[in-house]
Amino acid sequence: MDINNGFKIKDIFKSLRVRFFIIVFLTGLISCLVVHFVILESYEDRAVNVKSTEVQTQLRILANHLIVSNYLQDTSSEVINAELDMLANLYDGRVIVINDDLKVVKDTYNISQGKTIISEEVVNCLKTGSKGAVSKYDESNGYIEIVTPIIESEVIEEEDVSLSERSGEVVRGVLLTSASTDTIVTTMSILSRRAQTIEIIIILVILVFAALVSILLLSPFRRITAAINDVKAGYTDEPIKGPNYLETEQIIKAFNALLKRMKALDDSRQEFVSNVSHELKTPITSMKVLADSLLAQEDVPNEVYREFMADIGEEIDREDKIINDLLALVKMDKKASGLNITSVDVVNLTEVVLKRMRPIARKHNIELTLESKRAITAEIDEVKISLVIMNLVENAIKYNKDEGWVRVELDADHQYFYVKVMDSGTGIPEESLDSIYERFYRVDKSRSREIGGTGLGLSIARNAVLMHRGTINVESRLDEGTTFTVRIPLTSTATQGK
Ligand SMILES: Nc1ncnc2c1ncn2[C@@H]1O[C@H](COP(=O)(O)OP(=O)(O)OP(=O)(O)O)[C@@H](O)[C@H]1O
Ligand SMILES: [Mg+2]
Repeated sequence: MDINNGFKIKDIFKSLRVRFFIIVFLTGLISCLVVHFVILESYEDRAVNVKSTEVQTQLRILANHLIVSNYLQDTSSEVINAELDMLANLYDGRVIVINDDLKVVKDTYNISQGKTIISEEVVNCLKTGSKGAVSKYDESNGYIEIVTPIIESEVIEEEDVSLSERSGEVVRGVLLTSASTDTIVTTMSILSRRAQTIEIIIILVILVFAALVSILLLSPFRRITAAINDVKAGYTDEPIKGPNYLETEQIIKAFNALLKRMKALDDSRQEFVSNVSHELKTPITSMKVLADSLLAQEDVPNEVYREFMADIGEEIDREDKIINDLLALVKMDKKASGLNITSVDVVNLTEVVLKRMRPIARKHNIELTLESKRAITAEIDEVKISLVIMNLVENAIKYNKDEGWVRVELDADHQYFYVKVMDSGTGIPEESLDSIYERFYRVDKSRSREIGGTGLGLSIARNAVLMHRGTINVESRLDEGTTFTVRIPLTSTATQGK
């Protein structure tokens, strides 16, 4: 169960659609949250700033009043005391008045009166008071602390320059104030709550949007898979089509090309099978006819028996040849690994082949000659190359006229050796030149049958040549003759690796 679940979760994350969904969703969510925090944060900064400036302004005015009414020396002024309390109440905070001996003159909380305050800010403010008020925001406790100097402007006497050279201002004391930021916090929590409601709505919208987009954008892939499955299941072998993205179009193109090739292969296989059956059936039909006609007669003379049996024997030979040729073809389809490479004297090999063909040539009064320009040694499969030369020479003799000639020429350069088989025969019509290497193809069916051809010879020859990474070409003129040229690499290193 656990393992199964693990696989399922893995599969879910493998899905392009799920990933797409997650990316769109997270992008939306993150930008939403960032906007939320940035806005609240900057609201807080701004609100604290506004508040502390406001309090500072009030404090500056108050400081002036303190100086004017000499409050630092005498704290009995009702007006000032009332003013201090009012300010403290207004900002929900505390105001402490400190003189230049760091003594607390007045505390609106009435706690620290008479005590000495030596906090860093107060001391600093006394020293550098002319620089103005300093405020500090204590976020965790929710208040702003403001230290304001109480400044008295002095009339500087001309001689008494040493007292205060820079300015006519003297810091007489410090106002230490704290103002509550409760209102800011309240506003922020209201804002935050509102923002959250909106965010939830936005997130829901993004969720739906992400789901829709991931389904819609990726639907072409689903359609392609469905179409490919249809082809696989065999409902159809039509090429897939449909307006799509550039990317899916490329997939479709590649698939359709594959489909076309498979179809071509299938067609050629079917044709081959039907050709094989037809060719194999022909001799059997002949034998059946011969045997039946013998059986139909009574008291058949011995000579007739012999004649018919000889005919049946010929048909058996023919069947045997076809089967052997087919086996040779099938073997060669097994690619170059089937090559049995040895170092071979090509001239000698050709001579041996021609010697075997001579009796047939003589029967038709055909002159068979070999011309070799140099000694040739090549790394080839001896049997297969013999087969090539034998098939070409056999054709040159078979499709020749009486008293004709067949010339075989051997030549080589530093890379290849060449075998040329020329004849003075019937020639091959131009439109058939492309087809002669096809299995079972014959130019003139009736004549070939007479001669005993099945149309496999050139197919076998070409396969053997291709296995050696060679080429085979033909030139022909009707009623003048044909020339086959075979080119084979002298070394077969390229072939052996495969
Ligand atoms: N030298 C040639 N001159 C004229 N036609 C040729 C020549 N060689 C081949 N052909 C034509 O090409 C066809 C195919 O040749 P291929 O050798 O494949 O078959 P085949 O000779 O009929 O039968 P097989 O060689 O299997 O006994 C032949 O039937 C013939 O019509
Ligand atoms: Mg042939």
